[in-house]
Amino acid sequence: MQAAENTDQNQEENPIDMKDIVSLCKRRGFIFPASDIYGGINGFWDYGPLGTELKNNLRDYWWKSMVTTPPVGPDGHPVQIVGLDSAIIQNPEVWVASGHVGGFSDPMVDCKETQKRYRADHLIALKPKEESSPWIAIIEDDEEFLEKRLKKTAKGKSITDFDQVNLTDVDLADYGKILAPDAKEVGTLTEPKEFNLLFETGVGASEQDKTTAYLRGETAQGIFINYKNVLDSSRVKMPFGIAQVGKAFRNEVNPRNYIFRSREFEQMEMEWFCHPDEAPKWFEFWKEERQKFWQKIGLNSDNILMRDHAADELVFYSKGTCDIEYKYPFTAPDFGELEGIANRGDYDLTQHQEHSKTKLEYLDPERNNEKYLPHVIEPAAGLTRGVLALICEAYTPDPNRPSGVYLNFDPKMAPKKAAILPLMAKGEHPVIAEKLYMALREEFAVDLDIKQNIGKRYARQDEIGTPYCFTIDDETISDGTVTARERNTMAQERIPLDKVSEYLREKLK
Ligand code: GAP
Repeated sequence: MQAAENTDQNQEENPIDMKDIVSLCKRRGFIFPASDIYGGINGFWDYGPLGTELKNNLRDYWWKSMVTTPPVGPDGHPVQIVGLDSAIIQNPEVWVASGHVGGFSDPMVDCKETQKRYRADHLIALKPKEESSPWIAIIEDDEEFLEKRLKKTAKGKSITDFDQVNLTDVDLADYGKILAPDAKEVGTLTEPKEFNLLFETGVGASEQDKTTAYLRGETAQGIFINYKNVLDSSRVKMPFGIAQVGKAFRNEVNPRNYIFRSREFEQMEMEWFCHPDEAPKWFEFWKEERQKFWQKIGLNSDNILMRDHAADELVFYSKGTCDIEYKYPFTAPDFGELEGIANRGDYDLTQHQEHSKTKLEYLDPERNNEKYLPHVIEPAAGLTRGVLALICEAYTPDPNRPSGVYLNFDPKMAPKKAAILPLMAKGEHPVIAEKLYMALREEFAVDLDIKQNIGKRYARQDEIGTPYCFTIDDETISDGTVTARERNTMAQERIPLDKVSEYLREKLK
């Protein structure tokens, strides 16, 4: 349990408050609570005009880095990766074979008093050093809750008066002594039970015809079940990859930390199929490539951690897993998962071969027609979690500018690359501005913003992270120049109106 211990350090190291980020994202149209006008729905989010642009930029850059211009492999040639877009609902047997129907679950405890349900592995039991008082269950990483709970249930005591034990490590015989997170009575928590995360739905028009199916819990399975179709229909040869971006659904017990853990989210996954002997080499290759990817789009290396899983953390079939973690404001000074890179062996193809009774072995012409089930390296990233990392990284408080904050996006990711701002809303200025806008918009995502005072318009562009603003004023009419303003430094310079495209192209290179 780190949240409580790190409270002071958190504040020192990390003055950014998630509340401010959430508020900016709503105010400026990045992210809204889903069903907002109906009071929302826990674990679901809608992406507004700018959030959608940002998400698309990240998605497109990932697609480019995987499918359009994949990296150069150890042999000096680009590796082969093809794209896929599989259905969200598949034959339910897919999820039986993958193990999701039987095992895709979290341990849950219910509170008999409040009827609330918690993920057992997200609860911490505070065990009093003084035996007579009750144990207090708190939710991990929630400092506000911890403070309130201590004030209410253990006046005058601080976190140092307790030992912290993960609830999953507490002996069941001790459950009777625990005060549940929102309860008044002790001993109201049930034993942990497994709770399946797949969302169920019914397929078929009438009630009689309806069969249970599942919304996909990950995009990866769509790739495994199409592995043979891709091999048979394209010219790929081992080793090769299949990439997919799309929605995934998990009925998370405790959706939290904004869009970090939601019930509907997007993934960017690539399954890399290779000869079993080469899997360790490719695992290392993809670890390095994926780390470079996040750095290239603006995440600071100090905020990224490559964390290799210890042997006892690995699922039984995994031959190695490394998480790429990011220092989110709500985890700092610790890190939270952004992407997982796993060496999955032949587990998935074996499962689907057995359940579907379809042969999935590969006959390798480069290896004397050796027949084998390929091993798989899987870099599995969260697209929406990536959006959150980009926003958190970009959020830069700055008391020296009217907005008090700006989003320091890498220009590749910025929803708008430039804004065109006529100083006056009437007369020649907006006419020239619109002409410039029409010329630039063919090449760049640009904004034309005509009304309001110029300070407010700069503030808006700062808050949405637009790297450049071009202002049209009287000097534009007299000498054909515009003011170019740079977001981070707020420095302004005059440049010729007819050189704006060139200027922007150069800056965004
Ligand atoms: N195919 C492997 C797989 O799905 P995962 O670690 O469960 O692995 C991959 O998910 C990535 O998807 C995670 O690293 C995370 O970025 C994202 N992800 C997983 N669950 C999520 C959730 N509930 N909300 C948002 N993103 C999630």
